[in-house]
Amino acid sequence: MIDHLKQEFDKIFHESGELRYFFAPGRVNLIGEHIDYNGGYVFPTALDVGTYLAVRKRSDRKLRFYSENFPQMGIVEGDLDDLAYSQADDWVSYAKGVLYMFMEEGMTGDKGFDVYVFGNIPNGAGLSSSASIELAFAVMWDAVNGFSMDRVTMVKLCQRAENEYIGVNCGIMDQFAIGFGKKEHAVLLDCDTLDYEYARLKLDGYKILIANTNKRRGLADSKYNERRQECETALSELQEKEVVSHLCELDEAAFNEASHLIKGADRLKRARHAVTENERTKKAFRALEDGDLPAFGQLMNDSHVSLRDDYEVTGKELDAMVEAAWQEETVIGARMTGAGFGGCTVNIVKEDGLDETVKRISQRYTDQTGIEPKFYVVTTGDGAKELT
Ligand code: GLA
Repeated sequence: MIDHLKQEFDKIFHESGELRYFFAPGRVNLIGEHIDYNGGYVFPTALDVGTYLAVRKRSDRKLRFYSENFPQMGIVEGDLDDLAYSQADDWVSYAKGVLYMFMEEGMTGDKGFDVYVFGNIPNGAGLSSSASIELAFAVMWDAVNGFSMDRVTMVKLCQRAENEYIGVNCGIMDQFAIGFGKKEHAVLLDCDTLDYEYARLKLDGYKILIANTNKRRGLADSKYNERRQECETALSELQEKEVVSHLCELDEAAFNEASHLIKGADRLKRARHAVTENERTKKAFRALEDGDLPAFGQLMNDSHVSLRDDYEVTGKELDAMVEAAWQEETVIGARMTGAGFGGCTVNIVKEDGLDETVKRISQRYTDQTGIEPKFYVVTTGDGAKELT
């Protein structure tokens, strides 16, 4: 990969000088959906696909960005002294947003750079290509300036870039999973305290299969913010009588006792999802530690049902894909993953006969929706880092 990046960098920027290389992965969440912003547990894993950067420091304060994935945009120019948001920047906004947040922390950097970017996360699949770009640039900017920022601060800074610069009110999960990924492990993250623990992904004989519905995540951002709002309102209703700082602080029994305080059937369902999903995630972590894959898979299936019926973020395509997978004996568990409203499902599937399984799921899905899906068997990988 480094040879490829070097060669392409030279072709685009026609200049020599010392290059440094960086990588940040994509992520897939195994379970714990839509609860990072409710102070719950999530259980994502970093992938071995991601965003690669080849960078050369400049002698002035100019910034030049080029992505192999968006050649039609050509070289996008910028300046360290003008990091204001511009819609025309497109993907470059994720990079500029990160530099902007460093600047807000008083870490400006003295010189600009030329950067060549290549990403191999399947496009628009909901595997966090945006958080991957953010972390790749954060690790790079930190390294070339010698800021030595600690990882938790960096992860939070990238989340702020997404919240305040891009304007998507996401939780901490994606940036954390990408900043703290570890090959062959998933990370159990307490989104309230940011305490975390790795679990070895012992999937002997099984693979993680991502199924892309190829349904564009059209309303995703606005619906996402709407769900967050519903949870916040439900929480403030509970707080009228209960001392509770976030929904996932309650276990199911405590929730059932207090739930009459929540006014509105929809809000009650949203809150119930948050509470039950948090319980499922903790159980799933234990099931994996115990090597009990069937129990793990059942919790994944239950998670989907809750996201479908209580949280209502699935939709026809995600439901069709998951139902197609549930019909297969060799599928241990299947659920939507990420924000929902399109995007991907995550499945744990027996390696034996995998191709045949995929063919049947694919056929069923297309019969139901008329859409051609895409499938990726993914491998886990490490978190964001410099490549040497
Ligand atoms: C998106 C957000 C995350 C998380 C998930 C849903 O990926 O970026 O913070 O809320 O949706 O679990």
